[in-house]
Amino acid sequence: MEVKPPVTDAHSAIMTRRSVRRYLDKPVPKDALMRIIEGAGRAPSGHNIQPWKLYVVSGQSKANLTANIVDVVKNGDPEEHQPEFDYYPSEWIEPYLGRRRAVGYALYESLGITREDKAGRDAQMRKNFDFFGAPIGMFVTFDRRLSTGTYMDIGMFIQNILIGARSEGLDTCGQAVFCWYHNTIRKHLPMADTELLACGLSLGFADPEGAENGPIARKLPVSEYTTFLD
Ligand SMILES: Cc1cc2nc3c(=O)[nH]c(=O)nc-3n(C[C@H](O)[C@H](O)[C@H](O)COP(=O)(O)O)c2cc1C
Repeated sequence: MEVKPPVTDAHSAIMTRRSVRRYLDKPVPKDALMRIIEGAGRAPSGHNIQPWKLYVVSGQSKANLTANIVDVVKNGDPEEHQPEFDYYPSEWIEPYLGRRRAVGYALYESLGITREDKAGRDAQMRKNFDFFGAPIGMFVTFDRRLSTGTYMDIGMFIQNILIGARSEGLDTCGQAVFCWYHNTIRKHLPMADTELLACGLSLGFADPEGAENGPIARKLPVSEYTTFLD
């Protein structure tokens, strides 16, 4: 096997990645998009089964999808819109609850939305469906007949998109919120019935003026999640 020199910018791409929730109205260059997608497909997977599928929406297809979901969120019955898998626990426990709250509070505080302002929080939540103004939206799906290990493979595929985007000077946000609206999304994408929506993603250039892009999610020190055994 040929030993290749380390790719020195991988670490900085990882370290500068963060979720961006407001984007510039600036197109993503096609060649950069294609490199990101090609890189995603290089993700490892158990037995190399490559269980992922990717849908990329922009322009009119993105606008139609956004309009449909916004309408469903406003006028539909919330009970009818449930995810097909539990990304989050039904009952939160510590320390995860505290971490979850911390990012939520920081986001709303950056926008001047108070904890009592439910309408303000809902309006911010709905910006998800416009991909926070990003020119590109993505949906990652996989075959539901596979097993739980596939979720790891899918995570690696998604992570390659997030890191690949950084290496192109682009930003992203993972969007599990779309999973609640998979039935609506299915009407816009040529998804087979066997496909399960893992998550949505926004891709674009971060708006440096966006207050919601200000807060940086606090990360744990290495010592809190690593045990070294000699
Ligand atoms: C699979 C996945 C789904 C996510 N879903 C959402 C979402 O629906 N809406 C949102 O605003 N952020 C979403 N996020 C972003 C997380 O809130 C974010 O990654 C976390 O707060 C850590 O911040 P960081 O990405 O800046 O490190 C998601 C992230 C991942 C990985």
